[in-house]
Amino acid sequence: MQNTTTQLGLKNGIEKSNELWERANKVIATGTQTFSRSPGVFPDGGAPKYVRRQKGSHVWDVDGNEFIDMVMACGPTTLGHNFEPINAAMTKQMEDGILFSLLHPLEVEVAEKLVDVIPCAEMVKFSKNGSDVCAAAVRLARGVTGRDMIFCFGYHGFQDWYIGTTDRNMGIPQCVRDLTKPFNYNDIEGLKKMFKENKGKVAAVIMEPVIADKPQNNFLQQVKDLAHANGALLIFDEMLSGFRFRMGGGQEFFDVVPDLATFGKGITNGMPLGVICGQAEYMKNFDKVFLSSTYAPEVLTLAAASAVIDFYKENDVIAALWEKGEYLEKNLQQIIDKHELSANVSLAGYPVRLMINTHDVKGVQNNKLATLYQQEMFKEGILCFAGLLMLSYSHTTVDLDCLLAAFDKTCDVIKKAVCEDDVDKYLTCQAMAPVFKGLRERNAVSN
Ligand SMILES: Cc1ncc(COP(=O)(O)O)c(C=O)c1O
Repeated sequence: MQNTTTQLGLKNGIEKSNELWERANKVIATGTQTFSRSPGVFPDGGAPKYVRRQKGSHVWDVDGNEFIDMVMACGPTTLGHNFEPINAAMTKQMEDGILFSLLHPLEVEVAEKLVDVIPCAEMVKFSKNGSDVCAAAVRLARGVTGRDMIFCFGYHGFQDWYIGTTDRNMGIPQCVRDLTKPFNYNDIEGLKKMFKENKGKVAAVIMEPVIADKPQNNFLQQVKDLAHANGALLIFDEMLSGFRFRMGGGQEFFDVVPDLATFGKGITNGMPLGVICGQAEYMKNFDKVFLSSTYAPEVLTLAAASAVIDFYKENDVIAALWEKGEYLEKNLQQIIDKHELSANVSLAGYPVRLMINTHDVKGVQNNKLATLYQQEMFKEGILCFAGLLMLSYSHTTVDLDCLLAAFDKTCDVIKKAVCEDDVDKYLTCQAMAPVFKGLRERNAVSN
């Protein structure tokens, strides 16, 4: 694999991608299995739709274009795509089988390893995705408190209890929608008011511990205290912060330990796993609160998890992710400053979860500018969301320098568009459309 900028980008067009998309729309409802992977999130007409091969930090699309990947499969592949030590663990496991008729020792081994690295985890239970373990956490909280209401912040998957709070709520009964109420990050007064208005009814606060905003005034601890003062549990959804901020996620990084937490993505480097974990006093109620699935103990995934945890420990992956992120953050900021673009382009978040925000001078996010950013980055060979940059252990300094060079050129174009007050003039593709209306504006999702 060569790491020069010259072979990166939309060199071969996107004809095959577009042909596949046309076929897909005839036979796949919505054309896609994941909204965050679909055209709309990426600039339609200015980005490939289908990829065929991934290795390390690079990806090749069906037309043969090569990109540096800053999406990393929506977060899970924190070590890098097609990562040899994890492949080896899965290949070895495959010789013995994938899905067994009784319990398998790897269930115990992985559970022990997770209890060792996640602060709140005295016990764990597995499922196959993030949506299911978030739903299980909510069900458990409702079960142990005998209450129904849930307060939430962030994205928690497709299950009724959460998705009813978004504009994609078709099919969710109103009585279910009424039971979950979103709150805003860092708005402790707003949350206090919500507790006051729903006294004695709230089972849990579930939240991503961090998205783009940094916690102010010890926000996470204040949420925990407020939840407990009101008899509610605190649940952290660590799907994206786990194995990224720290192995133990935001709870370890911010030193605020929740009652329950959900993990997934980074634990397996791409294999499907959802983990609910927490204090034994609560977790023991899973004998009455139902969570059971045929595929939860599928062992290729558990072999991957076991190997990932070992690799993280042996190679200090977390330190490497922070180091790469800090290098990016420092240099991206210098480029923004050089172009005098801070009124329209700014960084948010943490080095391991960096956001490049594009906005008007009042700070209001601007989809057209975001699309222009993506369009130009794709041209230069960077596969990226309209803001969030997903780093992996496999990203090399050369990759990061390519990204910085691409961002520099992108800022050139953004600067012209802003100075001429004419973004449309520079857009050659359709403006991106966030998956949910209203969430990105509240910094409650990051793509
Ligand atoms: C924070 C968070 N929670 C829950 C989910 C849902 O996970 P899944 O798509 O595996 O159901 C996601 C997925 O993007 C997520 O980022």
